Amino acid sequence: MKRVFDGVFRDKNRLFTISFENGEYREWNPYHSKLAAAILNGLKTMPIKKGSHVLYLGAAQGNTPSFVSDIVGKQGYVICVEISEKAMEELIPLCERRENMVPVLGDANKPEGYSEYLEDIDVIYQDVAQPNQARILLKNTKYLKKGRYALLCIKARSVDVAKQPKKVFEEQIKELEKALQVMEIVNLEPFEKDHVLVVCRKL
Ligand SMILES: C[S@@+](CC[C@H](N)C(=O)[O-])C[C@H]1O[C@@H](n2cnc3c(N)ncnc32)[C@H](O)[C@@H]1O
Repeated sequence: MKRVFDGVFRDKNRLFTISFENGEYREWNPYHSKLAAAILNGLKTMPIKKGSHVLYLGAAQGNTPSFVSDIVGKQGYVICVEISEKAMEELIPLCERRENMVPVLGDANKPEGYSEYLEDIDVIYQDVAQPNQARILLKNTKYLKKGRYALLCIKARSVDVAKQPKKVFEEQIKELEKALQVMEIVNLEPFEKDHVLVVCRKL
């Protein structure tokens, strides 16, 4: 087992974290998590570390957020924003088992709704599969301090089903560049079709 990033380990093509719940190695499936897919596809900048304060937009039932919770550990935390009440039914019990995860029923388009959590965030991770993905991220990075990071998963088909994915990515990235430095773009094939993960830094 080789350590690839803080709290992330690799054995051939398999990734692992150490579970917040029981301290054992826990396999991280790249077909179910875009962050794991990006790591296996050679992500170079991994701003989520032990002790990081993470704002996670689009937490769903908490699968990837739980691996982020493993990585940040007891000194860090993950604020999990999710718009769907149905998804919250599974997210809340998960957060009860993991003291470093906080469930927030909210709309990532309206960061004012969860502003009490925005004060000291190190990294924003966004995976909301909405047409205005870049714009949503920019609304949230307004609250981020200079030099801190944002990771954005862009699903081309959520932005525009008819357009070439390459064109969609270019347009979304151009929008991000209004306020962020785009540091890295990782294609998520073969784990996810027509998706990229973009690493940005607040200017
Ligand atoms: C692709 S899923 C996220 C999967 C999750 N990130 C993971 O890897 O485990 C997208 C989620 O974003 C949520 N979502 C969509 N629009 C949202 C918004 N405006 N604010 C917050 N969550 C939103 C959806 O309800 C859905 O649960």
